[in-house]
Amino acid sequence: MGERILILGANGQIGSELAAALRLKFGVDNIITSDIREPRERAENEIFELVNVLDKDRVKQLFEQYQPTQVYLLAAMLSATGEQYPQKAWDLNMNGLLNVLDLAVDLGIKKVFWPSSIAVFGPHSPKVDTPQYCVMDPNSIYGISKLAGERLCEYYHKKYNLDVRSIRYPGVISWKTEPGGGTTDYAVHIYFEALRNGAYTSFLSEQTELPMLYMQDAVRGTLELMDAPADKLSIRSSYNLAGMSFTPKDISEEIQKILPSFEISYTENDPRQAIADSWPKRINDDYARKDWGWKPSFDLETMTKDMIENLKSTI
Ligand code: SER
Repeated sequence: MGERILILGANGQIGSELAAALRLKFGVDNIITSDIREPRERAENEIFELVNVLDKDRVKQLFEQYQPTQVYLLAAMLSATGEQYPQKAWDLNMNGLLNVLDLAVDLGIKKVFWPSSIAVFGPHSPKVDTPQYCVMDPNSIYGISKLAGERLCEYYHKKYNLDVRSIRYPGVISWKTEPGGGTTDYAVHIYFEALRNGAYTSFLSEQTELPMLYMQDAVRGTLELMDAPADKLSIRSSYNLAGMSFTPKDISEEIQKILPSFEISYTENDPRQAIADSWPKRINDDYARKDWGWKPSFDLETMTKDMIENLKSTI
């Protein structure tokens, strides 16, 4: 039997592009997208269902109806919004995951994908070349929920032999669907504003360096991890994954190479600064490279060219 894939939280920044890639790979009839709201637009013949991942009965019903071989759980509240609604963030990020893990075991789902984040690291984690294993003391509710989620994934793998796979995404940059409520979102907004207004005010300071990844690499990496033979995967919590690292100053200089009149300014005292300051600057992803052959293909320069080219024709 071929694969049938259910994506929970398919309308978001990563979900919308993963869904498109999965439809290309497995055929539109084999991909079921779902979210708490109707999508802004649907792909041709897209199978879409409304679901709140906190409604376990409804999730169970979808599992039974479609009998997916793989489930991607992408519904989550990100770091900045999480600080505004900590209880809700914890509830959604933890109980959504627990519902899916439990049902996946009960109903025999072959593979589960769940995204973690660089937010699992904290002020005492090494900032540069951050290793897979080190002190992890996240201080955002988002990071705390992701770290707990990683422990659950590993636990379900060990205890129930569930084939659950995960990536600690850095900030993901894309032009099709804008992210919402994250600390790394500035690196997406800056391109949109450069083309719309020729200027951008960054909520992170000019020297704030963070790990980032272009969407094409994020999607390819995710599919590569999901395709990798199970016995090659030495990590069942979540893999560090690196693409590039840059500061608001670096990205603005790169944009100025293409749009010379672009201007950047900075705000002070944004609450997202403290979150960014607690995260790594550069991540070590040796395990992903060794276990399943990960290699990013975009750097800041090639990503900037691609972003601007694509946004020019869509904005
Ligand atoms: N991009 C996410 C955020 O900023 C990190 O996982 O919240």
